[in-house]
Amino acid sequence: MTVATAHSNIALVKYWGKRDTALNLPGAGSLSMALAALTTRTEVRRAPARESDHVVLDGSPASGAASQRVSRFLDLIRVAAGSDDAAEVVTTNDFPTAAGLASSASGFAALALAAVDAYGLDLSPDELSVLARRGSGSAARSIPGGWALMHAGEASDGRDAFARQIAPAEHWDLRCVVLITATGAKDVGSTAGMNRTMMSSPYYPAWIETVDVDLADAEPAVMARDFELLATVAERSCLRMHASAIAADPGVLYWNGQTVELIHRVRSARASGIPVFFTIDAGPHVKVFCEPSAVPAVRDMAADEVKDVIVSAPGGPARIEDA
Ligand code: DP6
Repeated sequence: MTVATAHSNIALVKYWGKRDTALNLPGAGSLSMALAALTTRTEVRRAPARESDHVVLDGSPASGAASQRVSRFLDLIRVAAGSDDAAEVVTTNDFPTAAGLASSASGFAALALAAVDAYGLDLSPDELSVLARRGSGSAARSIPGGWALMHAGEASDGRDAFARQIAPAEHWDLRCVVLITATGAKDVGSTAGMNRTMMSSPYYPAWIETVDVDLADAEPAVMARDFELLATVAERSCLRMHASAIAADPGVLYWNGQTVELIHRVRSARASGIPVFFTIDAGPHVKVFCEPSAVPAVRDMAADEVKDVIVSAPGGPARIEDA
């Protein structure tokens, strides 16, 4: 049996759209920070006596769709390893998946690492990131962890569409304060939301055109620990991503009233001198980045609008654990 752990991550320059859905190739690059407080632990055991894979997610057998997604991913590894052994997969998140927080990033990164080891493959870090991307685009960034840059790549087989660390977790001790504004799974998942945006939003091409400029600003902002510049780029990237989704047909609107209220509060806090900025993924929660000393101020400003708060430091790479 092999055990691997991986942290979730939050994009500061967003990934939203694909140039190839079969290979899950992103339409543009992205940049993220891994979240030490959001971790998936996955065990993979080869089970040659089983007819099919058995997947347990947070203590219960996975649903048909979730289990099929895992099996299709394991098929990639079985083909590469020349094995037709079924597997037993036990995966646990230490954060509430029901709140609609991204679990596919940490989930497919941990699964990729554990399954590659269990099936005896020897992959480089870049190859592992390429593999994790086949499970979920954002999972490619959870393999290197820390501050990670995902390359859109040019090759038609996707071999250059991987993420690498640009700086380790220790490089910049920021906090991501996850403000949970609703419970329950989201209506439109990220894969479906971005597909609808690609198919029907007149703003999708314009959105994709903005990403390289944002990456060219965000990478040096991270390297120089330039909070103001990163705040500007991250909010711009988030709002443009959501603008492209809102313009789809029918529009994909992930925000609730609390989301909008919190955007305003973060902006007015920044205007009054508190170093904070927001980003929002395919759901209604608001992720606020700040210095550790500003966490109490963020909690106070959000207290009456949120159901729960998770505070995370930057996290490290996906890794194999002792079984
Ligand atoms: C809004 O990685 O979940 O969180 O590749 O279809 O699995 P698939 O999509 P996924 O999309 C993440 C979208 C996002 C932005 C981001 O993490 O970059």
